[in-house]
Amino acid sequence: MNRKYRKTVIAGNWKMNQLASTIKPFMEELKANLPKNKTCDIVLCTPAVMVPAMIKAGKDCKVAAGAQDVSKYEKGAYTGEVSADQLADIGAKYCIVGHSERRQYHGEDDMLVNAKAKALLAKGITPIICVGESLEQREMDLTMEYVAYQVKAALSGIDAAQLRHCIIAYEPIWAIGTGKTATAEQAQEVCEGIRAVIRKIYGARPARAVSILYGGSMNAKNAAELLAQPDIDGGLIGGASLKPVDFATIVAATAQEA
Ligand code: 13P
Repeated sequence: MNRKYRKTVIAGNWKMNQLASTIKPFMEELKANLPKNKTCDIVLCTPAVMVPAMIKAGKDCKVAAGAQDVSKYEKGAYTGEVSADQLADIGAKYCIVGHSERRQYHGEDDMLVNAKAKALLAKGITPIICVGESLEQREMDLTMEYVAYQVKAALSGIDAAQLRHCIIAYEPIWAIGTGKTATAEQAQEVCEGIRAVIRKIYGARPARAVSILYGGSMNAKNAAELLAQPDIDGGLIGGASLKPVDFATIVAATAQEA
């Protein structure tokens, strides 16, 4: 973390879990366990239909609501899609784009991720842009080349003013939902590399101001060590974000000096 230059963000990705009707008890338990002093921004990304319930229940403990996907189209005959305008209208402040599960199961490519990020920025929603390598790519020593390509493609045509409203999440695919966390050194190395890529495109100041999160089996036990790294500005948390006490513990880990 580096609070002097950028925001620390702890974001949960609920994926296709929970129900609108169970958010209230979840938030009550979360609230009871959150630290009194706020040392990071807290976000919970739910399926779009649950965003209004999250906003309502999250007000008390200052949890912002986010979605997990958006259409690249503005409006029209795209059955089943949800537009950035519609997300903004119900109060979503953040939206994940390019999650590896969407890349894997829904064929999303880097061009689509870029279009979605732009659609969100146009409506004032912060895209949380996910990048990350597969195990094969890591074993072939292609991690940084591949992640650099993903970052460049996702940010193509996005100017420095818009970059200020973007968050990058480094999520190595092999660490997602596997219980296999990247070591703090591995995660730091790639997050530092991502910042270097951004520096090359936008210059030192914008690069210094971008929050880069780590995601992939981050939990109550390993969060503090990951967050102590200088280029890891928070977490994008799957499984552990479904457990209020664990999620609150990760939030509390941002209170450390770094
Ligand atoms: P897990 O924390 O369950 O590994 O999921 C990470 C993730 O995919 C967050 O977007």
